[in-house]
Amino acid sequence: MNKQIGIIGIGSMGKMLLNGLIRKEIVHQKKISVSTKTKEKLTQLKKEYPDITVFENNSDVAKNSDLLFICVKPMEVGLLLDEILPSLSKKTHLVSIAACVTIGNLEKKIKGKLSKIVPSLTSEIFEGISLVTHNNQVTKQEKDLLETILEKISSVKKIQEKDVEIAGDLTSCAPGLIAAIFDEFVKAALPFASFSKEEAAEMVVKTLYGTSKLIHDRKMSFSETLERVATKGGITEEGAKVLQKRLPEVFKEVFQKTLEKHETVKAKITSLF
Ligand SMILES: NC(=O)c1ccc[n+]([C@@H]2O[C@H](COP(=O)([O-])OP(=O)(O)OC[C@H]3O[C@@H](n4cnc5c(N)ncnc54)[C@H](OP(=O)(O)O)[C@@H]3O)[C@@H](O)[C@H]2O)c1
Repeated sequence: MNKQIGIIGIGSMGKMLLNGLIRKEIVHQKKISVSTKTKEKLTQLKKEYPDITVFENNSDVAKNSDLLFICVKPMEVGLLLDEILPSLSKKTHLVSIAACVTIGNLEKKIKGKLSKIVPSLTSEIFEGISLVTHNNQVTKQEKDLLETILEKISSVKKIQEKDVEIAGDLTSCAPGLIAAIFDEFVKAALPFASFSKEEAAEMVVKTLYGTSKLIHDRKMSFSETLERVATKGGITEEGAKVLQKRLPEVFKEVFQKTLEKHETVKAKITSLF
């Protein structure tokens, strides 16, 4: 790929993106420039990837990028855009990954080509889903390029911006939520077991991996999977009945709470744009 790529903010997600670009050979290191707040990190990054360009100044990354990923926390995006605005050209395609920062927020500061992506931690192992949405300034070619990049580190799902929060719960928050669910699953088994938490966790993780792979590879639905395991009058059925009785309320509350939080953060962010 011939474009110059920039990443501002090398935290958890920025680093994941940088690793993906290089390890998946999407672009040569020489085409990548990065900046981040903690300058000592830049020396470390240069040791790890000697051919990338590291800049102390965010504006230098902005100036040198055709495709620019903004990977700072939501509350920091507004100030960062003010800082780099004079360095953006008309052809810069800016991609924000910040939760709760809408394309509408970004358009208040930038009149050009904008996309918003919702990445997932699962892209660390090139799995999971990245959600993507664009404004109407982004050309088909630019959309295709961004989506081709994301497809190397995940599957890509285009969504309407109005669905971004709930879809993000299902893809981007989900690794954390799934971890929380299965931590409780493991903890609840321990009083009945003589093995350790670590052993229980290993059993569950391997089973979780196998279940995901089975459902994914065989294109099985959740209900089909349940039917295959929970034979009528059997043991699994007893457990499944408890889950089916209690979980609808629990998950309803989970989504109510996350969506409420999205609205609170969005209101705070909008006041910064
Ligand atoms: N974590 C997830 O699973 C996830 C999923 C979807 C979306 N997101 C979004 O991704 C974004 C980043 O999240 P994260 O988890 O990667 O957070 P993070 O680990 O805290 O990374 C953010 C990075 O931004 C850098 N930074 C802060 N202010 C800066 C500035 N003025 N100039 C340059 N760099 C600056 C910090 O750099 P230093 O470390 O160098 O100080 C920090 O490492 C957030 O907006 C979040 O909403 C995260």
